[in-house]
Amino acid sequence: MARLTLNDHPVEIRMDPQTPLLWGLRDGANLTGTKYGCGTGDCGACTVMVDGAALRSCLVTLGECEGRFVTTIEGLSQDRSHPVQQAMVAEQAIQCGFCTPGVVIAAAALLARNANPSEAEIGAALPNLCRCGVHPRLLAAVQRAG
Ligand code: FES
Repeated sequence: MARLTLNDHPVEIRMDPQTPLLWGLRDGANLTGTKYGCGTGDCGACTVMVDGAALRSCLVTLGECEGRFVTTIEGLSQDRSHPVQQAMVAEQAIQCGFCTPGVVIAAAALLARNANPSEAEIGAALPNLCRCGVHPRLLAAVQRAG
């Protein structure tokens, strides 16, 4: 079991503390916006914020998140689309959408600490894989949102 603050609400996820956070979110908390792509930290589809920093949820355990603040795509913006999401629509940066939640979370974490990132900084913060080939538009959307 792990107790954490998930999207601004205290929760108990009743799973083995060694379970990757990704599965705690998807299977324990029924939040399926966070995606499973590789399970090895390479693709970024599972990116969430932990204490405001973008982390790959397949690489951290529920136990490691005990007492921490976790934000998923479902909790990023409560009442309207986040500026990154609005910019993605404006830049037509979404095709299949599978990578989108992880990209949005990574971009939001970047912009929260650096409102005007350079292209290099955006590239470094978003190593997320997009198999549809819209990565250049994703980067443009992050610049627009900044
Ligand atoms: Fe976590 Fe790919 S599923 S990085």
